[in-house]
Amino acid sequence: MSARRPDRNLALELVRVTEAAALGAGRWVGRGDKIAADQAAVDGMRAMLDSVSMDGVVVIGEGEKDEAPMLFNGEPVGDGTGPQVDVAVDPLEGTRLTALGQPNAIAVMAVAERGTMFFPGAAVYMEKIAVGSQGIDVVDINASPTENVNAVAKAKAVSTREISVVVLERDRHEALIAELRDAGAKVLLIRDGDVAAAIAAGQTGTGVDMLYGIGGTPEGVISAAALKCVGGGIQGKLWPRDDDERRQLVGAGLDPERVLTTNDLVAGADIFVAATGVTTGSLLRGVRYLPNGAITDSIVMRSRSGTSRRIEATHALDKLQALTGLEYH
Ligand code: FBP
Repeated sequence: MSARRPDRNLALELVRVTEAAALGAGRWVGRGDKIAADQAAVDGMRAMLDSVSMDGVVVIGEGEKDEAPMLFNGEPVGDGTGPQVDVAVDPLEGTRLTALGQPNAIAVMAVAERGTMFFPGAAVYMEKIAVGSQGIDVVDINASPTENVNAVAKAKAVSTREISVVVLERDRHEALIAELRDAGAKVLLIRDGDVAAAIAAGQTGTGVDMLYGIGGTPEGVISAAALKCVGGGIQGKLWPRDDDERRQLVGAGLDPERVLTTNDLVAGADIFVAATGVTTGSLLRGVRYLPNGAITDSIVMRSRSGTSRRIEATHALDKLQALTGLEYH
């Protein structure tokens, strides 16, 4: 294999990065400060990222260079020696969940071959439907929620009453929630964190059949990467908040009417995703503390092999602190 293509060990290197982010954010669980939690996750991620053998460019990061001093879009990351890749990071997906000590906050990153990740640009929001492998060929973002629930129930050979749909609890979703319930589905409302919910929808045995509704576009791209690894899929459509934003998107060459498939969001064939739990949720357990130590629970996935691994790690906080210069206690 050429040195410029991802090596299979990359997934295992990435988990060190998401573990570091989760350990950083873990100190801030329940402390009511989402900015500090996010910063600690960014610092943790940054401390490890440059040791990863890759020649990466951040496609999805913390924002524009001037507002985001670290992990900004376009920033080179990795030690520069390995494969040329696009990198999507969300050091803390669920800043509010962390601050409030609520479930499903994770640290997550995805890597794919250079030039294969959708760049969201000014597209802040996206309508999304994420489902497992049985549902991806039958859902249609342009069809009604009722039609989609019926289609997924039929594909899974169950009644619509057995379909659980995760929806972000937002005013914009009032009509969606009412229709999903009328269609017979159970609606599981979440405060934040639709990446973990999308990944859960892609896996069997999680109790989640679909993620439905409008959430962040960057989160949609990361979800697509993970779903490509676990075998599910996502369909989306950019969701401009007003006419101004619509004009901006069109001006940037983006089409809000276009249906974006999993492959449109991440075209790569060799994708790696790592995620570590910050607070315990349907996908992962959160950071647990021991006297002078901590345990993390992570998942690492690779699309090419379809392998998904769970990694439980015990960390010696004093040693980590000495190594990285960051505060982990
Ligand atoms: P944070 O960026 O604060 O961690 O929030 C994450 C999130 O809940 C995503 O999971 C979701 O896609 C997006 O925010 C929804 O955006 P909004 O809160 O503006 O509705």
